[in-house]
Amino acid sequence: MAVDLLLGLQWGDEGKGKIVDVLTADYDIIARFQGGPNAGHTLEFDGIKHVLRTIPSGIFHKTAINVIGNGVVIDPVVFVKELEALDQFDIDYKAKLIISRKAHLILPTHRLLDAASEASKGKAKIGSTLKGIGPTYMDKTGRNGIRVGDLELKEWKIKYRQLANKHEAMISFYDVDIQYDLQEMEAEFYEAVDRLKELTFIDSEQYFHQAMKAGKTILAEGAQGSLLDIDFGTYPFVTSSNTTAAGACTGLGIAPNKVKDVYGIFKAYTTRVGSGPFPTELFDKVGAQMAKVGREFGAVTGRPRRCGWLDLVALKYTCEVNGVTQLNMMKGDVLSGFSTLKVCTAYKYKGETITHLPFNIEPENVTPVYTSFPCWKEDLTKMRSASEFPKELNQYIDFLEKQLEIPIQIVSVGPDRTQTIHR
Ligand code: GDP
Ligand code: IMO
Ligand code: MG
Repeated sequence: MAVDLLLGLQWGDEGKGKIVDVLTADYDIIARFQGGPNAGHTLEFDGIKHVLRTIPSGIFHKTAINVIGNGVVIDPVVFVKELEALDQFDIDYKAKLIISRKAHLILPTHRLLDAASEASKGKAKIGSTLKGIGPTYMDKTGRNGIRVGDLELKEWKIKYRQLANKHEAMISFYDVDIQYDLQEMEAEFYEAVDRLKELTFIDSEQYFHQAMKAGKTILAEGAQGSLLDIDFGTYPFVTSSNTTAAGACTGLGIAPNKVKDVYGIFKAYTTRVGSGPFPTELFDKVGAQMAKVGREFGAVTGRPRRCGWLDLVALKYTCEVNGVTQLNMMKGDVLSGFSTLKVCTAYKYKGETITHLPFNIEPENVTPVYTSFPCWKEDLTKMRSASEFPKELNQYIDFLEKQLEIPIQIVSVGPDRTQTIHR
């Protein structure tokens, strides 16, 4: 049996949580493969909105098993808050949620290090969510990290103490004013670890192998977006994990030849939170309208998301890097009634017109070249079938499919589960 992947093709917040929830009906197992509580995945159904951070977006379905893979970094404190939010909905997470022993832990001092590192960068800051993601992955690759499986060993607290002491020395090295009470943070952390230990820890790569042998279907859920990938994103304004398709293999222990479909998800326009280049960003009323109608505020930090036109140069690049086989277009409803739509189809770069993403996409290097379209006027949010789509929306979809050479199979017309149209 094969594994399918679902990943964001832009700078995150494409609507991954919503679509994973919709697709869960077709899968036995949903598995998060990277990132941590820097993610905020929003699901809406029955008039209730849920935001998941570390827990896979299949958790609200009756039967699916949800796995937190080895590539994820877990902050026990945030994780316990997520569990508490689920308690109100009577979700049997002890039965449906399992965690890889090889996943790394975000420690309180990782969060402090994130804050110190960002403060020291001044204007050059990444715009991190400050959840300790970068420092935790640094300890992972530096071979100092503490993993979920270590919590089963008595001596983990000794290892923790040594690492926390080192982190405190590093924080003082940054020479920035970070106020904190580590004792208080540690008390909260230890309590959360005890709650985390009530869940089942597994050797997830073996679990997936057995599941595939038994014919189970698996959907891997990405976090962040491909343009935030540590290798292929807009470095250094990226996150610290591989958000692209290969990250699902290393983040779950699944071999590349087991991957079948790659669902690539994108908004009908573009957004970005945090710093870094964004060639099609709008600073005018049109951008402000996208932000207002699309409610473009970060699900984790509440920061306003920067908005702009769809960038096909970037989208083509992320489709290629991920080997996308099917596209999902989100939030077309937000654009209803715009006077014109624009799509960036090329960049002016060093006096040439190019259609590939160059190394350097800072505003001084690239100027977007746009193709304009008439926009649809109709409210899409009540539509439930592609046969109801206005001709301008069909024209937009056809153009994107031709340019990207990949079918757009799901069109989302609102945040709710039911506002999802399969083509
Ligand atoms: P994720 O991180 O990729 O899961 O995306 P987020 O949850 O951070 O952000 C997507 C936001 O758009 C959430 O508030 C969703 O409820 C909302 N959303 C998802 N799909 C649609 C859609 O088709 N139309 C509208 N208007 N909102 C949507
Ligand atoms: P989901 O899964 C959007 C951004 C941050 C910052 C950069 C680095 O909800 O799509 P980090 O905290 O990882 O050190 O931040 O990456 N970022 C996201 N932007 N959606 C996310 O996740 C993000 N996770 C991180 O804003 O620019
Ligand atoms: Mg999000």
